[in-house]
Amino acid sequence: MRILILGGTTEARELATRLAGDGRFASTLSLAGRTAHPAPQPVPTRIGGFGGPEGLKDWLRDQSINAIIDATHPYASRISANAVTAAQAAGIALGSLVRPAWQRLPGDTWIDVANAEEAVSALGATPRRVFLSMGRLEIAAFAAAPQHCYVARMIDPPKDVQLPPEIVLIQDRGPFQLAAELELLRKEAIEFLVSKNSGGSATYPKIAAAREAGIPVIMIARPKKPHRHILADIDAACAWLETLREPHDATASARGV
Ligand SMILES: NC(=O)c1ccc[n+]([C@@H]2O[C@H](COP(=O)([O-])OP(=O)(O)OC[C@H]3O[C@@H](n4cnc5c(N)ncnc54)[C@H](OP(=O)(O)O)[C@@H]3O)[C@@H](O)[C@H]2O)c1
Repeated sequence: MRILILGGTTEARELATRLAGDGRFASTLSLAGRTAHPAPQPVPTRIGGFGGPEGLKDWLRDQSINAIIDATHPYASRISANAVTAAQAAGIALGSLVRPAWQRLPGDTWIDVANAEEAVSALGATPRRVFLSMGRLEIAAFAAAPQHCYVARMIDPPKDVQLPPEIVLIQDRGPFQLAAELELLRKEAIEFLVSKNSGGSATYPKIAAAREAGIPVIMIARPKKPHRHILADIDAACAWLETLREPHDATASARGV
């Protein structure tokens, strides 16, 4: 059975690892190509956009794909919309791994905002020391608030992006540890953390560290991410793929077709 995994996440790599050890499945992992040196992957990988939903539909047909698992990041909504459209057009089953959002815990001070521009407003006029934990494209919005001093962490350095004048760039990729996150907040005298609600454990320590240090988190809301058959975790994804191998036992809706 030929599977396309839409990736760029820890879950996608974990799923690919599980399927790589199962001779019944031949998986291809697809990455957008945003990071210059992606982590090694356990299955054949293709890199770069498909050319919208039409391009994805053609690729699915060319590659005789039987099922798609959308394991993209919760903030990658365009590729998920494309996957829904292309899967429907090609008559291919689509399962979507939906990573639960982080929930506020006692001691958290979260300021909810809709996007990076609202996060900039939420910082206010008074100069602050701000930790930006987000992709290199989103940090451009903070050039509109040059009064603050920023520490920005990302995988690759920003290219062709306007930056605020006072910014320290840290190139690093998760998983991160609580003690190191607390030390970073302390060393940089951080007053605000700006974050997406990515969910998962790899980048959660910054949220726990902010709670422990009493630092408010400006939390950028998740976009609406289209999906078909929702899969809670890797086990659910594998179980769902099993049902697709027995199409006579599964209803079309359970298969996400
Ligand atoms: N957004 C985040 O905060 C975030 C964080 C961590 C990881 N990522 C990963 O980074 C990638 C890009 O995220 P994004 O927010 O820029 O996505 P997006 O806005 O949903 O997608 C923009 C375009 O990038 C291409 N694309 C996205 N994911 C792809 C994939 N897995 N394989 C092939 N093409 C893909 C598609 O191009 P075409 O229309 O040409 O097919 C898509 O239309 C995703 O794979 C995501 O899982 C994103």
